[in-house]
Amino acid sequence: MSKSFCVAVAGATGAVGVEMVKTLEKRNFPVGKLKLLASARSAGKTVKFHGEDVVIEEMTENSFKGVDIALFSAGGDISRAYRQAVVSSGAVMIDNSSAFRMDADVPLIVPEVNPEDVKLHHGVIANPNCTTAIMLVAVAPLHRAKGLKRAVVSTYQAASGAGAKGMQELIDQTRQVLNNEPISPKAFAHRIAFSLIPHIDSFTDNGYTKEELKMLNESRKMLHLPELLLSCTSVRIPALRAHSEALNLEFSDEITPEEARAILAKAPGVTLCDDPANNLYPMPVDATEKYDVLVGRIRQDISRRDKRGLDLFVSGDQLLKGAALNAVQIAELL
Ligand code: A2P
Repeated sequence: MSKSFCVAVAGATGAVGVEMVKTLEKRNFPVGKLKLLASARSAGKTVKFHGEDVVIEEMTENSFKGVDIALFSAGGDISRAYRQAVVSSGAVMIDNSSAFRMDADVPLIVPEVNPEDVKLHHGVIANPNCTTAIMLVAVAPLHRAKGLKRAVVSTYQAASGAGAKGMQELIDQTRQVLNNEPISPKAFAHRIAFSLIPHIDSFTDNGYTKEELKMLNESRKMLHLPELLLSCTSVRIPALRAHSEALNLEFSDEITPEEARAILAKAPGVTLCDDPANNLYPMPVDATEKYDVLVGRIRQDISRRDKRGLDLFVSGDQLLKGAALNAVQIAELL
């Protein structure tokens, strides 16, 4: 008989939590018992799982008795507050927040990139930053073939990165702007409807935001490339739930667009979407609700005299590969 697991979803009512539950169901993860945890505000509500109603419970330190795997997506403070309770109950925490990602004893995993690192866990495994996960699904197979040295990245990030409240703010604000009504930004620092905001997470002393530095530090950790050079500009755009990124990559060896296409055509988690003559390239609406990262606009970097530079464009569902799907794939690895 195959084994089944008691799985808890912490933050089950959030933008990512809802997708975690759907992904467990869609991928037929062997769930014996499902515990849905959120704040007291949500306790008593029900969610359907494989046709059955599951009642949401208020999360407390006692919620993890008998739990095998706890998928956390309720914010870094909540992850920090419950880590001890989860680990001492014998469960493995797969944490979507940035709280433990850079800790030496916490593996940071994208299953298509560094599945072998999962064995190094001591009760906590971190799910990477969403833009980093989406980027590395496309970049890791190119790196394995040609050796990545440097990346310059611009991101175009959806409202879903700020959770359910971010998505609602984009929808409400779009309507308010169209109706000439006053707006009051809360989830974002400024108006997002019909605009964009070059500011995600807080600013640090060197002028980069924390989000931009996560791209550097988490890529170094997952690719095992402590010397990797990477500069990123992260921008919030009025897309609902899929992130896009323009990537300028420099490799140790020469690489042509044809070679890159051949590598990416075989790469797990990638759908090649690269036929400009027919207006085919990655876009957030096409990546929405897809498991794969779309990769296209692959071309030689003409700002160089050699063939070691490549430009490409990727789109991936922030709530799936950027969060819930990746977390469930980590649970599958376990
Ligand atoms: P709730 O809906 O009950 O507030 P998002 O990232 O989409 O904003 O979602 C955040 C998730 O974290 C929600 O499921 C939210 O539950 C949950 N959450 C927030 N505060 C707590 C808390 N103190 N204890 C447990 N879950 C919490």
